Amino acid sequence: MRLDFSRITQQQNVYYLTPEDAGFSQYYLAVREKEQRILTDPEVRKLPYLERDEWPYRIKSTERFLSYISKKTETLHMLTIGCGNGWFSNKIAEVSSKNEVIGLDVNRDELEQAARIFKTKNLHFVYADIFNVSDMFEAKFDIITLNGAIQYFKDFKELMTLLTSFLTPNGEIHIIDSPFYATDEIPAAKQRTQEYYESIGVPEMTKNYVHHDKKLVADFDILYTYKRNIIHKILGKKESPFSWYRFIKK
Ligand SMILES: C[S@@+](CC[C@H](N)C(=O)[O-])C[C@H]1O[C@@H](n2cnc3c(N)ncnc32)[C@H](O)[C@@H]1O
Repeated sequence: MRLDFSRITQQQNVYYLTPEDAGFSQYYLAVREKEQRILTDPEVRKLPYLERDEWPYRIKSTERFLSYISKKTETLHMLTIGCGNGWFSNKIAEVSSKNEVIGLDVNRDELEQAARIFKTKNLHFVYADIFNVSDMFEAKFDIITLNGAIQYFKDFKELMTLLTSFLTPNGEIHIIDSPFYATDEIPAAKQRTQEYYESIGVPEMTKNYVHHDKKLVADFDILYTYKRNIIHKILGKKESPFSWYRFIKK
């Protein structure tokens, strides 16, 4: 069932399901600015086919996911959590105009950029605290994606329980392009993260970046996993170093 946006407050084509709270996004955007990773509109339009930063490593993971959903014959209602500037939500929406895609985030700047650039009928961008939208989202989505976003959610299990309640029967959650760590790797990874955010002058971001344990996804299907391939290395082929995880609601 399509969501009804007619009575929802909107500004600059972004729909506000919950009141804005700039707590997290002020630090997130400060980091992106320091890293010079806030992209211009023309750059966002090209994603993921951009020759800078991590983008060459994200092409194949994007293409794999698009190929996966394009094989599904039913109409899909999809939610992309942490959609940022909207490029991935748009790619998904382009797969079929029958599908409905909602890109959700908590950073107004990139949501407004997303809504400015990608104006497709089957794509809406929403601002929402995901933990306060259950009435509207309950049992609504066939596919939920977290692409490069799970590391910003503190409680993995709490989030998965909530997102499972948003799924239709046999609905799926996909986690793409995010790191999970072996238990014994976590202390050192935390230390590196803290030193990094301190070095760029945004120490507040340390508590907003989570190093999730691989054990949390032990029961998920792994649809892709990175394998070192010396031939690919020699040929300069670029691949995501992260696994692609899927959970299916039974
Ligand atoms: C690294 S970006 C990824 C953007 C995009 N999905 C991509 O793959 O390029 C992470 C995004 O997650 C968003 N985010 C972090 N915490 C969030 C939350 N609690 N709810 C929704 N979005 C969140 C951030 O604002 C940011 O836009």
